[in-house]
Amino acid sequence: MSAAPLPTTSTVAVIGAGAMGSGIAQIAAVAGHRVQLLDVREGSAALAVEGLRTQLNKLADKGKLTLEAAQAAAQRLSVAHDVSNLVDAALVVEAIVEDLAAKQALFASLEDIVASDAILATNTSSISITAIGATLKRPERLAGLHFFNPAPLMPLVEIVSGIGTDAVVANTLFATAKAWGKTPVHARSTPGFIVNRVARPYYAEALRLLQEGAADVATIDAVMREAGGFKMGPFELMDMIGHDVNFAVTRSVWNAFFNDKRFTPSLIQQELVEGGFLGRKTGRGFYDYREAASKLVASTEAPRALSASVSLHGGSEVTAALATRLANTNSNANANVSIKTDAPSTDGRIASVGDAVVFVTDGRSATQRAAESGIANTVLIDLALAYGSAPRIAISCAKQCSPAARDDAIGMLQAAGFQVSLLKDIPGLAVMRTVAMLANEAADAVNQGVCSAADVDAAMRLGVNYPRGPLAWAEQLGLRAVRDVLSNLAHSTGEDRYRISPLIQQACYAGGSLHD
Ligand code: NAI
Repeated sequence: MSAAPLPTTSTVAVIGAGAMGSGIAQIAAVAGHRVQLLDVREGSAALAVEGLRTQLNKLADKGKLTLEAAQAAAQRLSVAHDVSNLVDAALVVEAIVEDLAAKQALFASLEDIVASDAILATNTSSISITAIGATLKRPERLAGLHFFNPAPLMPLVEIVSGIGTDAVVANTLFATAKAWGKTPVHARSTPGFIVNRVARPYYAEALRLLQEGAADVATIDAVMREAGGFKMGPFELMDMIGHDVNFAVTRSVWNAFFNDKRFTPSLIQQELVEGGFLGRKTGRGFYDYREAASKLVASTEAPRALSASVSLHGGSEVTAALATRLANTNSNANANVSIKTDAPSTDGRIASVGDAVVFVTDGRSATQRAAESGIANTVLIDLALAYGSAPRIAISCAKQCSPAARDDAIGMLQAAGFQVSLLKDIPGLAVMRTVAMLANEAADAVNQGVCSAADVDAAMRLGVNYPRGPLAWAEQLGLRAVRDVLSNLAHSTGEDRYRISPLIQQACYAGGSLHD
């Protein structure tokens, strides 16, 4: 059921003139609404309006807005001094401190002031919309309108419905966000909504990898960026967000899900918070940002010669990419060795080089796989967003693997133009494990009716810049492959954390898409 957006003739009130409130005020004013900005701190709203006028001028200088549009938007901004000034607001967006009691008190004070058909919206990122609405006389007109930081730049808006939210209210907000140039998605009010829930494994799996000694932070970050295609590695991202904030969100989602193992916070991050190593803002987190500090560098294997012949076993994206890369790069260096593509293998190997047998990870460690297959010289490669163009790849070797076989595999990957990061032999490697868990969480959110499959993918691309929606990624990998990775992780760790979403299970049995 669709609804019309709020007309631009209607007034929007924004309460809380901090980072988010100011950004939301800017968006609404540029979209054509009169905007009233209110803040409890004396002078804050006036300062924010002044800052927004400067910002609008800058946007005009840069050609992002015409001078007339910027001036008109600036004219539409005004300061309110008290909730009693907000009688004309057709929409009130609350962006005050993240505290349930404060938000409930604010909305209670507004209820009798605004018109009966005015919409009340909260920008909360973690508090239940149902709980905020619980103390309202008419909770049906309250919904979440969750922008991402910085609001004027980030396209995603989650429209969050609590148990009492009227669908017309949610649909009007959806249409209004769209009219404001945003990409809205609908979500049900469950812990973390969409993005803050589905993103948890991006941090959690990295912290687990670190705890398991897979590699150091700079190496894991480089693998996630340069093989996984993520804009920022998980550790540099947590440092940027601030460990206090990131840890608090993880804890709140974990608590809200009654301590579901999926969301268990990390002792490593807790220690950073306890020590005041909050990330960039305090000068130290996983990385040291102080001036004289030495920079952490990703570990990359030293060059090995490719001296053994290579048999690629066709039939997959990775072998096709390896064949092309080996043909295109370093062709002189490869001239002395034979590189041929054979028929697809029966045991899933993608390449044999010298004594090494190379597979893509299926969630088992190389050591386990070597023991089960009897192939001592097992080498595993991690997932890459695009094997054809990834600059780096992570690998792991079975404990049984000989140094010569390891070097043959590294030499082949280097000859194909990859920087190679050799990880400790942990199950699932870094990118595969993370993507499988992101897809699993996304599938659970869909299965539990939080959002649609298309919306979770859009939310993760637009809210946190993922290179591909997690469900689309899982479908591209093959849902059975994702299921195997999760089931092998569950088996090797013995942890409920890796249990497979019923939606993935069902799609594996029945065929078809997660988007059906
Ligand atoms: P902020 O601390 O920058 O700004 C909050 C503003 O609200 C302050 O200016 C404060 O004086 C004012 N305020 C506090 N209580 C008030 C009240 N009772 N009445 C009027 N004004 C009041 O906070 P920020 O970062 O702008 O966050 C605001 C809301 O947006 C929070 O609910 C937060 O969870 C949510 N949010 C924050 C994001 C972020 O990245 N910072 C992203 C998405 C949502």
